[in-house]
Amino acid sequence: TFVVTDNCIRCKYTDCVEVCPVDCFYEGPNFLAINPDECIDCGLCEPECPANAIFEENEVPDDQKQFIALNAELSQQWPNINKWKEAPADAKEWDGVPNKLQYLER
Ligand code: SF4
Ligand code: F3S
Repeated sequence: TFVVTDNCIRCKYTDCVEVCPVDCFYEGPNFLAINPDECIDCGLCEPECPANAIFEENEVPDDQKQFIALNAELSQQWPNINKWKEAPADAKEWDGVPNKLQYLER
């Protein structure tokens, strides 16, 4: 399965959802999560993310392993998203800022 990680927070570019063939992205206030039970491992979303926030589960960086469980949890709670939408106005300023988990809104 593929996993959305830290750098998506407050960037939320949503380019990823446009290419997902099974529509398995779920939207929170400032982050998206992939439902691991629905993801078919096609890998199409990974190169689409301008923030490089998507990793295959086995390639998630060590300091971001907690996002594997977070995607599973949050995708159960949030509504589905399958259309691109405008990123937050300050998305560029947050792109690359480390440790944004503290800003995750649920
Ligand atoms: Fe969707 Fe494919 Fe990305 Fe899984 S790997 S979330 S199926 S685009
Ligand atoms: Fe997030 Fe990247 Fe998708 S920033 S919303 S994972 S395109």
